[in-house]
Amino acid sequence: MRSEIQEVLISAEQIGEKCRELGTTITNEYDGKFPLLIGVLKGALPFMADLTRAIDTHVEIDFMDVSSYGNKMRSSGEVKIVKDLDASVEGRDVLIIEDIIDSGLTLSYLVNLLRHRGANSVKIVTLLDKPEGRKVDIVPDLAGFTVPDEFVVGYGLDFAERYRNLPYIGILKPEVYQGS
Ligand code: XMP
Ligand code: MG
Repeated sequence: MRSEIQEVLISAEQIGEKCRELGTTITNEYDGKFPLLIGVLKGALPFMADLTRAIDTHVEIDFMDVSSYGNKMRSSGEVKIVKDLDASVEGRDVLIIEDIIDSGLTLSYLVNLLRHRGANSVKIVTLLDKPEGRKVDIVPDLAGFTVPDEFVVGYGLDFAERYRNLPYIGILKPEVYQGS
């Protein structure tokens, strides 16, 4: 699998350090508020696991699975809820945990939905921010790393469902996706 990666952009150690940093920030900001952390499946799974364990106050966790009608590498903005929350967000302080914010279409849909459902506050925590891809005006409240406008994989991010299990973030060799 490593031979299919052109370049490692962010190492496992850098990700670990960033999770601890973000965890401390969230602890300080949400201590005593029992926030609801919503992981967006499947990409946010490793980030959710590492981030939540770096938070030193009580949190509730839940997951949503949404799919956007788009091609393999970009979302279209039309979002379908594949798995909804178990918890009610009414009156809750919500943190949406995402792997990457690119066009921003998925997250702007989710933020609006959760506000509409009566959340007290809705904030976005993303491991990666790709600001050059933005199609709607949305800024994450907390972001781990800014990445260039390239397709990245690893640490939850996939290409055709592969590479999610890489412990780092990397760029695929062009021949890997050109062949598909
Ligand atoms: P939007 O465009 O709605 O997209 O902000 C968020 C979702 O698009 C996918 N995405 C990527 N997936 N490498 C990936 O593996 C990327 O570089 C990339 N850019 C966007 C991803 O599913 C994310 O949740
Ligand atoms: Mg995703």
